[in-house]
Amino acid sequence: MARNILEIENLSVEVSGKRILDDVNLQIPNGEVHVLFGPNGSGKSSLIMTILGFPSFKIISGRIIFNGVDITDLPINERVNLGINVAFQNPPSIRGVKLGGILNRLTPDKEKINELLMKLKFPPEFLERDINLGFSGGEVKKSEVLQVLAHGGKFIILDEPDSGVDVMNLRILGGVIKEELQGRSALIITHLGVILQYINAHMAHVLINGTIACSDSPTKILGQILNEGYTWCEKCLRTRTQRCEL
Ligand SMILES: Nc1ncnc2c1ncn2[C@@H]1O[C@H](COP(=O)(O)OP(=O)(O)OP(=O)(O)O)[C@@H](O)[C@H]1O
Ligand SMILES: [Mg+2]
Repeated sequence: MARNILEIENLSVEVSGKRILDDVNLQIPNGEVHVLFGPNGSGKSSLIMTILGFPSFKIISGRIIFNGVDITDLPINERVNLGINVAFQNPPSIRGVKLGGILNRLTPDKEKINELLMKLKFPPEFLERDINLGFSGGEVKKSEVLQVLAHGGKFIILDEPDSGVDVMNLRILGGVIKEELQGRSALIITHLGVILQYINAHMAHVLINGTIACSDSPTKILGQILNEGYTWCEKCLRTRTQRCEL
């Protein structure tokens, strides 16, 4: 096992000819949970899509090393096989594809699926429904987390698992994520950080205009963001310090 589950070196990315990630550097040690903050449109989801290898996110320069393997040029399926597992911010609805069908492909462990359904308080009837079709916002989030946790993998990425989730369901979701991420490597994108009340994260990073402006403890960074917004991070970006003076 490599020391770092993920190492991103000087990564710059374009979509449709537009630069959306600019010289991103990020290291996540094996066994740690990291958090990614950043304003709307700063490039958080694009970074995830690039890590997963969607071809429309064109790598202009830099490298992505996953668990010691250079995956920069690998196709999506090989990255997934290496253990990258993503819960998307806005997953598609797919008519004719049942949630239960997908889960059966993700894991042969029916007990695990039933256990997760029970813990997430997600009614088993959902297994018979077309994936995400007519699901409420909170149900989509539960379904994404359910799929990711059923599948497992070496590195779990959750893109805004808490957005649109009510207080009670957040408690349920947060409890399950915390339990399942124990001792594992993960990256969680969140805006308001509510999910952090439930999860012990080791480190947080802030993405501003497509680049990591600073990295520090999740509570420090979240406190600053809630107090002042992202203005102080923009200052960090200007001075290019990797540790904010909070
Ligand atoms: N396929 C695309 N074509 C054109 N622009 C794109 C495409 N995908 C992403 N972008 C742009 O890249 C920028 C970063 O988008 P991204 O979805 O990564 O932001 P984000 O940080 O996840 O924001 P949010 O917090 O709102 O989810 C945005 O300006 C977005 O419009
Ligand atoms: Mg996003």
